[in-house]
Amino acid sequence: MEPAPTAAASVPAAVSGTASSEPGQFVAWLRAVAPYIHAFRGRTFVVGVPGELVEAGRLNALVQDLSLLQALGMRIIVVHGSRPQVNAQLQLRGLQSLYADGRRITDPAALECAKEASGELRLDIEAAFSQGLPNTPMAHASIRVVSGNFVVARPVGILGGVDYQHTGVVRKIDTSMIDLAVDAGAIVLLSPLGYSPTGEAFNLSMEDVASSTAVALGADKLVLLADSAGVPDAQGRMLAEISEATAQSLLSAGGLPEALAFQLRHALRACQGGVPRAHIIPQGLDGSVLLELFRHEGVGTMLVKETLQAVREAANDDVGGILALIRPLEEDGTLVRRDRSLIEREVGNFTVVEHDGVIFGCAALYPFPADGIGEMACLAVNPSAQGKGDGEMILQRIEQRARAAGLKQLFVLTTRTMHWFLKRGFVEGSVDQLPQARQNLYNWQRRSRVLVKDL
Ligand SMILES: CC(C)(COP(=O)(O)OP(=O)(O)OC[C@H]1O[C@@H](n2cnc3c(N)ncnc32)[C@H](O)[C@@H]1OP(=O)(O)O)[C@@H](O)C(=O)NCCC(=O)NCCS
Repeated sequence: MEPAPTAAASVPAAVSGTASSEPGQFVAWLRAVAPYIHAFRGRTFVVGVPGELVEAGRLNALVQDLSLLQALGMRIIVVHGSRPQVNAQLQLRGLQSLYADGRRITDPAALECAKEASGELRLDIEAAFSQGLPNTPMAHASIRVVSGNFVVARPVGILGGVDYQHTGVVRKIDTSMIDLAVDAGAIVLLSPLGYSPTGEAFNLSMEDVASSTAVALGADKLVLLADSAGVPDAQGRMLAEISEATAQSLLSAGGLPEALAFQLRHALRACQGGVPRAHIIPQGLDGSVLLELFRHEGVGTMLVKETLQAVREAANDDVGGILALIRPLEEDGTLVRRDRSLIEREVGNFTVVEHDGVIFGCAALYPFPADGIGEMACLAVNPSAQGKGDGEMILQRIEQRARAAGLKQLFVLTTRTMHWFLKRGFVEGSVDQLPQARQNLYNWQRRSRVLVKDL
């Protein structure tokens, strides 16, 4: 799930359904995805493809979707997995898959199987990217795929008395060659194998290679295709968007299936390494990459980097800082006056941005759960810090809080800042769109404009 990029006031309903054969709807649909295309051009996406997807016969469909992204100007690095294929090779040879602590032990025979599986997968993926028959989505694609010894690995070694032999972990990624290849218009394909300076090959996990590559390249997104539909909360409800802190607490709680926890750990690692967004999306759903990237609702779970550890929910100690920030804006009439006791009572509704222990920005969320809507109020950024994205960041955090509370819309009342909100996906509404309780409090003298955003 990706919020509509700014300027896409709201994604028209047509984009939520399939593009209809009706010309008008088709045009509306195509226009609705335009902001995403603009926003994603030149961005680097690392896509982790599990061997299970290839085994299930879904490779061609995925390759068509990735080719489309590449044609739209996105820089694509594909990392494939090979677990079922390695197991099949082992089985063919009458050998057992050996695991300890959920990790494969790669003995010399298993390494042979891993090499064979990766070699075959690489050829199959290259072949899929080479299609170009007329009347297929791949017509005129002419995509070049580049692979190579771009992953430097080291052995896992001996853990808890178990020698993992040729099972390795990523030590380094040769980003210069990958950058060169994608800049030249190629798709880079990486296998879950790495090489050590001693000339040995090591069997790696797709998730390790994909997250390490995303971090090393400073990618904009890591997309991991998974067996599950996304990351569920404790009640089993799929979470569309989570923060690093939520991911961390879900992992600590320990209730997730092992494979999903493994993917979430790597997604989190990517975010902690600087990747702004990591997506875990279902590999079994046709077109899931496109649905996740180009549809407001998305289909999996998006893990969002707390770009700014500086943004957080307010605590009692922040009341003084919030007051110091908003008083001047109350005095010039930009904000409605709130006295200290009100802020003290409602401090839990506030989100603040802090730099070096000083509050530089704030906003409050007042949910109206029965109406599925929330009000963002009291948005303010210290004049000395304006224009650096703090306002936008607070808005994003408030949207995240509102979504987590199950709200579908957010509104603001503003007298002077209308254009700031319009640029960020709000559309002008009317007082009668507000929850009844809020309408009763509406100050007709102030004549604030009502702006509403779908979440
Ligand atoms: C509105 C406000 C919160 C934005 O905070 P910020 O940290 O400067 O926001 P960002 O850095 O994310 O965005 C800055 C952009 O918004 C623009 N902007 C700032 N105030 C604006 C306004 N009143 N109307 C339209 N655009 C505005 C800036 O020019 C800048 O544009 P640019 O990126 O094209 O240069 C801040 O300007 C503020 O505190 N204003 C006074 C309080 C206020 O109006 N609050 C809203 C009450 S409803």
